Amino acid sequence: MERLQKVIANLGYASRRKAESLIKDGKVMVNGHVVTELGTKVNSNDVISIDGNIINKDITYEYYILNKPRQVISSVTDPQGRKTVVDLIATKERIYPIGRLDYNTTGLILLTNDGQFANHLMHPSFQIEKTYVAKLEGLITSAEIRKIKAGITIDKRLVEVKKFRIKKQDAEKNTSLVEITIVEGRNHIVKKLFEKLNLPVSKLSRVKYGFLTLDNLKSGEYRPLTIKEVKKFYSL
Ligand code: URA
Repeated sequence: MERLQKVIANLGYASRRKAESLIKDGKVMVNGHVVTELGTKVNSNDVISIDGNIINKDITYEYYILNKPRQVISSVTDPQGRKTVVDLIATKERIYPIGRLDYNTTGLILLTNDGQFANHLMHPSFQIEKTYVAKLEGLITSAEIRKIKAGITIDKRLVEVKKFRIKKQDAEKNTSLVEITIVEGRNHIVKKLFEKLNLPVSKLSRVKYGFLTLDNLKSGEYRPLTIKEVKKFYSL
């Protein structure tokens, strides 16, 4: 066991003093948890990362796009034993989802083990557009469409709606199928938005994330992102 700042310095990442300030600033993680205690001891099995980048393991970064099925949870493990998005991908690397989709929401989700990439995509300044198709219980009126386009305030914050269109209305079943594009990343935000208009969402799917679409990925299928796609996210 050795002191964390010494291990960081020995890896050639930073001087001992610089390593100490990185730790104090909360930039260092050990096994995925931020460590700010200078005396922390680590061993060679511990995974150390700085600013999301693993520095002491020979890890190759992986990036996947998955078409998430229903009844799969967007996390690495689930205390209740439900299937997770990570279970669907055959890899030995410790990947995790970038953001989340609800248990019963389907569609496009990205996974990676590259913390810098994940942080980049989730940073609020990085206004990535996400498009959802939602089935609503109710027929949407033109007044409601105007309200949506103007933006709806949820928990005192405006949800900016970039695009909105009706795909289908079924008067007999009293349902609407709509497509909505937002930049928001708050949990359950699409459902909350329509709930505010008394239009409960009975089905939800994310069909686009930035420039990425699912193309021919079927439910439960995935593929690695190309280097070009990863670079494109950095250049947006
Ligand atoms: N908004 C929701 O309500 N649920 C999701 O899964 C994603 C966005």
